[in-house]
Amino acid sequence: MRLMGEEAGCRRIDLGWAFFDSAKMSQTKIYRTKNDLPAQLREKMIVLLNARLADSIDLQTQCKQAHWNVKGPDFIALHELFDKVNEEVEEYVDLIAERAVQLGGVAEGTIQGAVKKTQLKPYGARGGSGREHVEALSSALAAYGKLVRAAIDVSDRAGDKDTADIFTEISRGTDKWLWFVEAHLQAAR
Ligand SMILES: [Fe+2]
Repeated sequence: MRLMGEEAGCRRIDLGWAFFDSAKMSQTKIYRTKNDLPAQLREKMIVLLNARLADSIDLQTQCKQAHWNVKGPDFIALHELFDKVNEEVEEYVDLIAERAVQLGGVAEGTIQGAVKKTQLKPYGARGGSGREHVEALSSALAAYGKLVRAAIDVSDRAGDKDTADIFTEISRGTDKWLWFVEAHLQAAR
């Protein structure tokens, strides 16, 4: 683990792509728990889980945006597919939020919190064509998948195999849904 910015009086822990700001972390409210994982590790995982929770909430709203607004000859297939993806992403939201709470943290699951923290770009489709929504949602799923895949390594290296397992499950599912959505664009190679 590399420590960043200590010379500037700001202790930041660089875990690859994610920064854990010790000042912010010390403000994180941690409940006492009999869970045997060390408190410092739990605190880091709570920060990581809340970061991915924000992305997951954002992704869920993007799935619904696609579900509601898609039009065209593939309407019913895409309308139903986008809702299936939404239902699965809702499960990811729950898995991530509850893991943060199990570790003694507070799940930051409000839409206001998600807007501040999400790493996803705004939803990319404004029109109604199926192709436009498939492009937009596949891009969101790919970006989300990359963030979750990185979180597997961060939590595994930090020593929390269970959080890594949750992120692995989500990553596997996200790759599947990316395939389901992106296949609509892949007929011509
Ligand atoms: Fe619906």
